[in-house]
Amino acid sequence: MNILFMGPPGAGKGTQAAEIVKTFGLPHISTGDAFRLAIKQGTPVGLKAKSFIDQGLLVPDDVTIGIVEERLQLPDCKEGFLLDGFPRTLSQAEALDDILGRSDASLDHVINLNVDRGLLMARLTGRRICSVCGASYHLIFNPPKQEGICDNDGGELYQRPDDNEESVGKRLDEYDTKTAPLLAFYDNKGLLRQVNGENDIHVVTSEIVSLVRG
Ligand code: AP5
Ligand code: MG
Repeated sequence: MNILFMGPPGAGKGTQAAEIVKTFGLPHISTGDAFRLAIKQGTPVGLKAKSFIDQGLLVPDDVTIGIVEERLQLPDCKEGFLLDGFPRTLSQAEALDDILGRSDASLDHVINLNVDRGLLMARLTGRRICSVCGASYHLIFNPPKQEGICDNDGGELYQRPDDNEESVGKRLDEYDTKTAPLLAFYDNKGLLRQVNGENDIHVVTSEIVSLVRG
């Protein structure tokens, strides 16, 4: 089962991915998470990506495609994967078709989480992330049981440096100009499924599970 999550920054891709990979036993491939790990480890990819991410801009295609290509070749992707946040440009989408085509694979579901732009700023500026497992919380919409502490592992919660108003504004503009056109690309292939990402988190999860089970 090869699944792709699309949706603007803050649509709930990471939140839903955490549940869906558990339900279907898939590896979660998030380019955003991969870049944040590379930055933390100070790798060459991390050094290249950091200034783009800090400014709310997309990381150049060659860097991004390279890390996804490498990741998809690992054995745990043989039985399927969930891609979150890749592709975000037409070149990335074409590269993905190419990478999958080389091993006779293809996407089974492209799920777009639809959320009105007006809600995304509040979602992102109120988001907090676990420093240990990466789980996403929200100060108001999805608070942890104990303030500042992850429910899963007691890890300390932090705010992503790009979750400030200025970076979020740029990320939303990047989404509108470079990523939103991909919806038509996947719709034309008959793969696109729309899910209302404004519903309660558990309602959204159930809808995705039903779609994937067909
Ligand atoms: P990335 O980490 O992917 O960030 P993003 O696309 O901006 O998406 P987010 O992670 O911000 O949002 P999400 O949809 O995962 O929302 P979440 O579930 O956390 O990428 C970061 C950067 O890396 C990019 O800006 C770019 O620079 C670079 N990059 C990554 N991929 C790239 C690529 N392919 N090409 C080039 N550059 C790339 O939820 C958000 C908040 O809302 C949370 O607080 C959550 O608790 C809350 N929430 C979730 N669902 C609901 C709900 N149903 N109701 C109420 N609140 C909810
Ligand atoms: Mg995310």
